[in-house]
Amino acid sequence: MSSKPITSNAPEEGQKHTPSQTKLFNPFQIRGLTLRNRIIVAPMGMYSSPNGNFTDFHLMHHGHFTFRGAGMSIIEVSAVTASGRTSPEDAGLWDDSQIPGLKKVVDYVHAQEGGGGKIAIQLGHAGRKGGMTPIYPGREHHIVAKDDGGWEDEILGASAVQFLPSYIMPKEMSGEQIREVVVAFGAAAARAVKAGVDAIEVHGAHGYLISSFLSPIANFRTDAYGGSFENRIRILLEVVQSIRSNIPDTMPLFVRISAVDWMEHEPSTPQWTIQDSVKLSLILSDLGVDVIDVSSGGNNPEQKILVTPYYQINFAAAIRKALKEAGKTMLVAAVGSIDNAALATEVLDEEKADMVLVAREFMRNPGLVYTWAEQLNVQLPWPRQYLRAPRDSKLRATI
Ligand SMILES: Cc1cc2nc3c(=O)[nH]c(=O)nc-3n(C[C@H](O)[C@H](O)[C@H](O)COP(=O)(O)O)c2cc1C
Repeated sequence: MSSKPITSNAPEEGQKHTPSQTKLFNPFQIRGLTLRNRIIVAPMGMYSSPNGNFTDFHLMHHGHFTFRGAGMSIIEVSAVTASGRTSPEDAGLWDDSQIPGLKKVVDYVHAQEGGGGKIAIQLGHAGRKGGMTPIYPGREHHIVAKDDGGWEDEILGASAVQFLPSYIMPKEMSGEQIREVVVAFGAAAARAVKAGVDAIEVHGAHGYLISSFLSPIANFRTDAYGGSFENRIRILLEVVQSIRSNIPDTMPLFVRISAVDWMEHEPSTPQWTIQDSVKLSLILSDLGVDVIDVSSGGNNPEQKILVTPYYQINFAAAIRKALKEAGKTMLVAAVGSIDNAALATEVLDEEKADMVLVAREFMRNPGLVYTWAEQLNVQLPWPRQYLRAPRDSKLRATI
């Protein structure tokens, strides 16, 4: 059998990547990883993992994004413990038996001619938002009963406070349980390395476990993991150290945070602010985190998100500015409603962020990178297998 890779985004003769006026399509380096462009598929839970396993669904899902030009695809949040899943169908990496399924996805992405596509994984723990049915618009979201594969008695949180009355009451984690979860993040990262991923992202956003420790709106602890800012961020710093000691020096580490709680309408309620995010980012930069991925919200059901095209981009820009002023090298990823080429270009070229992450628009249009390239008059190499279907309308008559 030929060892020739089976797919390609590599330029064929005469197929050139035209130089771009925008940074969007310029390759760039994070530690030992080179991305072919700055358009990255954001992590999206697909609730398609029996017993946490990655399946051919993931191969197809991430395969088609990377085959069609994405710089990198970040695999959905994958639980570091079985009880840290949001739902029974969540992906997971808490056991060695989950490595081969992930490796199959990673190997496919890397098999493209030219090795253009890269693949990362997001690691997380659901905390007090665990043990529920998947979230779909128009479908009921409820606790999964034990008879249906739920784990109501094992839900752990920063504090024994429900997210909503319809959620499971979590048990406040003991110091020992925190240590176990920190170790579990490191072990899951080591498994991801064995599977061959190109980068790791920590899920520190959206009110899940780490995020609920960070914010005083969800963390009511009185020990070394609650109270002061320094205490609330402790678990995240330990998770970062645990992962860094389990992955190669050359491998980029991303951390996703919620930049704010969106609770400014309740000014007397202690909450996580953009100033906290800036302070945290400066610390993470010194701890070996390479990219801060700036999302928001999720810690309180009363949040009021001010949705504009810039609702999260502005937070990324504020963090990036502070990092630059402090001489830090950490990069910033913007995410949220970046669904058109003009906005993506603006984010990068006006230095609001160093890369854009896109979620829903990639589900609508897996060929988004080519769509944006054409809109911006940039010619990208087209996979060899598809050369008889030229995208250029002038060449369409010729086959
Ligand atoms: C179906 C779906 C699943 C998601 N799952 C995750 C996830 O696993 N981890 C995460 O950090 N964010 C998750 N998100 C949030 C996205 O990564 C992204 O931040 C959000 O959708 C905003 O970006 P967009 O406007 O480009 O969709 C999910 C979003 C969607 C639509």
